[in-house]
Amino acid sequence: MTVPLVVGNWKMHGSQAECAGLARNILRLQRRKPAQVQLAVAAPFTALAPVKKTLRRTRIGVAAQNCHWQESGAFTGEVSPSMLRDVGCDMVVLGHSERRHIFHETDAVVAQKVEAVLRNGLQVILCVGETLAERRQGRTAKVITRQLRIALKGLAKNAIDNIEIAYEPVWAIGTGQNASPVQIALVHRRIRQLLTAWFGKGAGSRIRILYGGSVKPDNAAALAMTAEVGGFLVGGASLAAESFITIARCFNRS
Ligand code: PGA
Repeated sequence: MTVPLVVGNWKMHGSQAECAGLARNILRLQRRKPAQVQLAVAAPFTALAPVKKTLRRTRIGVAAQNCHWQESGAFTGEVSPSMLRDVGCDMVVLGHSERRHIFHETDAVVAQKVEAVLRNGLQVILCVGETLAERRQGRTAKVITRQLRIALKGLAKNAIDNIEIAYEPVWAIGTGQNASPVQIALVHRRIRQLLTAWFGKGAGSRIRILYGGSVKPDNAAALAMTAEVGGFLVGGASLAAESFITIARCFNRS
């Protein structure tokens, strides 16, 4: 059984000092009473270096929240995967709903980014999820299938070993309204079926499918027990070390 992965998505929050301090506090709490999971934090670009420095030689991974798909060039304001590798990043979150909906990232753009990040030897945390309107229209499975199909198209079979999928219903992000265990289990099962069909049985059974969307200390235990949940992508509640670790500890079996 793969260990769960719990990632904190800090979004556009924190100075370098604040982010390094948050990383330090997470590390301290993790050392005191470990969450039996793999931990990672997705810091803003400007704080990646100090956060990496704080977490160097620890097991806590460092993720970026986005990147461009080219190595370099005339792309004002963008950051490439090789730059992220250079700063010590281990992972990159791609296709987050805020990128898709506020910054109009298409499935095709997400696909280019997935390919570029993998080519640079970094791990991908690929986010997928339906809007409330899509769910109400009964299109959840269709939307998620499309997002995954386009993002993962053309990848080698073993590429899947470096990809984590995060199911994040758009209507659950930052709203305080998490998806129910039944809703999550249905979608995660669907995702696993697709991945098994595309990448083979072994890969399909190994892959971790994270849930994200209003995960908080008071609902995390029930969500962690949900069938098919292999970890969390935590936004708001990851901005305090105590609540982030409390959430991660919900996967502890002893
Ligand atoms: P939330 O955000 O936990 O604040 O809902 C989740 C996310 O955006 O990844």
